[in-house]
Amino acid sequence: MTVDLDALIARMTWEQKLLQLQIVWRPDAAEREALLRRGIGSTFWPPSAEEANEAQRIAVEETELGIPVLVGLDVIHGQFTIFPTPLAQAASFDPAVAELDARVSASEARSAGVTWTFSPMVDVSRDPRWGRVVEGFDEDAYLASVFAAAKVAGYQGRALTAGDSVAACLKHFVAYGAGEAGRDYNSADVSDRRLRELYLEPFRAGVEAGAATVMAAFTSLNGTPMHAGRALLTGVLKDEWGFDGVVVGDADGVAQLVQHGIVPDERGAVIAAIEAGVDIVMGGTVLVDSDGVAFVSPDELSEERVDDAVRRVLRLKQRLGLFEHPYVDASAASHGTTERYRDLSRQAAERCTVLLTNGGALPLPDRGRILLAGPYARSLDHLGTWVQHFASTVRESLADAVAAELPAVDWDIVDGCGFFDATDASLGEAVSRAADADLVVVAVGEPSRISGEASSRADITLPEAQRRLIHALCDAGARVAVVLVTGRPLVVEDWIDRVDAVLCVWHLGSEAPAAIARTLSGRANPGGRVPMTFPRAVGQIPVHYDHERTGRPARTGRALLPETIAEFTGPNNTDDYYTSKFLDLPLGPRFDFGHGLSYTTFALEGFSLSTEALTADELDAGLRAEVTVTNTGDRAGDDVVLLFVTDEVASVTQPVRRLRGFSRVTLAPGESAAVGFRLDADDLRFWADGSRRVLEPGEFTVTVGDGTSEQRLALRLEEAA
Ligand code: GLC
Repeated sequence: MTVDLDALIARMTWEQKLLQLQIVWRPDAAEREALLRRGIGSTFWPPSAEEANEAQRIAVEETELGIPVLVGLDVIHGQFTIFPTPLAQAASFDPAVAELDARVSASEARSAGVTWTFSPMVDVSRDPRWGRVVEGFDEDAYLASVFAAAKVAGYQGRALTAGDSVAACLKHFVAYGAGEAGRDYNSADVSDRRLRELYLEPFRAGVEAGAATVMAAFTSLNGTPMHAGRALLTGVLKDEWGFDGVVVGDADGVAQLVQHGIVPDERGAVIAAIEAGVDIVMGGTVLVDSDGVAFVSPDELSEERVDDAVRRVLRLKQRLGLFEHPYVDASAASHGTTERYRDLSRQAAERCTVLLTNGGALPLPDRGRILLAGPYARSLDHLGTWVQHFASTVRESLADAVAAELPAVDWDIVDGCGFFDATDASLGEAVSRAADADLVVVAVGEPSRISGEASSRADITLPEAQRRLIHALCDAGARVAVVLVTGRPLVVEDWIDRVDAVLCVWHLGSEAPAAIARTLSGRANPGGRVPMTFPRAVGQIPVHYDHERTGRPARTGRALLPETIAEFTGPNNTDDYYTSKFLDLPLGPRFDFGHGLSYTTFALEGFSLSTEALTADELDAGLRAEVTVTNTGDRAGDDVVLLFVTDEVASVTQPVRRLRGFSRVTLAPGESAAVGFRLDADDLRFWADGSRRVLEPGEFTVTVGDGTSEQRLALRLEEAA
């Protein structure tokens, strides 16, 4: 039976309405039960299907209105089965990986009584000092938009009423990733043009994909804290985009408006936030106390706005089918991962690794003596940030996995150092053991506790102890292949050219060791690409592929050393001295967006466009770009072809290129395939300012590349006839 929401709202008291606009930030069991009896609208997941059913039972059977509760949880990259982190998923350049994570996550979560996940995070960022880059998809709005839509589709499935669907939550609205200096929770100041082009776009894509909810960002944007950001929360999200779902505040984000200094007290904070467009307050502030007294009164807070918020919350519950079916079958609930889901997680993980460099050490030989060293030789810390205490465990170490994967190899295992500590003795032992090995695999990286929320780092190199291990082994003449476990792009300058190969494996989840071992052996061929630029130095940040043109682009760099200063200031090169560069760095990042190698090689040929000149109307019908990719090596592998567009002359400065398409293709040795893309007018439009999105006739360059080679073609957009 369909509930008449307007009739229900008409029956509700002021206090009952306010209670629907509340989720308490992780209450204890007694507090949760008291709030449920009071009629609260949402609660965090009590960690079992049985307790979730009991929460619903209290809400439905022991309150006057019997309104079921939303049951929320941070299922970011897995409930029980943990998938690679979202940044790792983006590295796959395969949105099916993200959708698979979301499908399995939703199935495990909903079966256990979760109806709402606070995921996906779609904050774009260009600053790897920010720990939360691990939770997002990357530096590029287009890639983030594609992955946002894939996650929403995976979480919400074919219908929110389904037993394997949960309501998605796009977060954190908006420009949380633009926090100054990459310091978490820090203020952001962004032009309206960049806000539209970069930070809002993935949210728009997620709303277009049908996301049920949106979470406000902790941060202030251009002087307005987002929890009181009416112009964006209501003006853009709800009015302009027509979002009819629910906006939830972040944990205590409403109360923190007091810290932001824009309201005098929590009462003012609640009023400001709900008036701005927050529908559910997440935090300790309880809008109706245990005596049933409302925290704010109808003459302080518009009842029309409150009714709109209540309607949004009730509509979501209706869409989830909670009025008809508030309970789950606890006997059929997931209580942990399964072998099938673990296998899916491993398959996903194998698509996320990025071969950054390879002098031939990888894939590993299947015999001989190999030393595995470093803290990740034996550490099980592969789940990454934002996993719940009930997540499945990593069952084996990398040492176990490589021994199983390459049984004929004579493996020797030594830590050599911890994540943050090394002694001369521990380093010396590793060096002496390396002397007997044909090859050394050094497994190093960021433990997950320095990745994620509140984990910004001012120095994004490997911890010093681990760098000492790499240098000690290289000093001793060992041939070294590095397995790099990380939640973010790292600065690797001091050791990267000393080692033979580097495989970046991010934090790959429940089956990480098996996925890494199969990649090291060559059974899996790495096909991922860098989704977020690796800077050469922290001082280079922000550095990203789609940087805008300048009036003084540099062609060469690194003039710090005396012998190169002359090169810059001598008569033959003064024109390059006064250009946009760093005196003490080579030009460009260490690894560019889209970079990635394979155990095989590929060639791009025959790049073509369906036409080289057309009008906007013709472009609206679509322009086809096509290139042939050939596997020119001796083993199967995946290539990722990226399509970029450059607007050569426009009314406002343009990025040197913008991603407008990507495709990952698997090819057998010698096999070729045509990879096609469709471009339309929207792909050439840009925001001229915060209000005008324009399409301007003129010359464009269309580029296809796979991180190793590129091909370019000119395209002319003509004035309408
Ligand atoms: C956290 C995060 C947010 C998360 C929320 C609920 O502080 O900022 O991403 O969903 O609290 O756990």
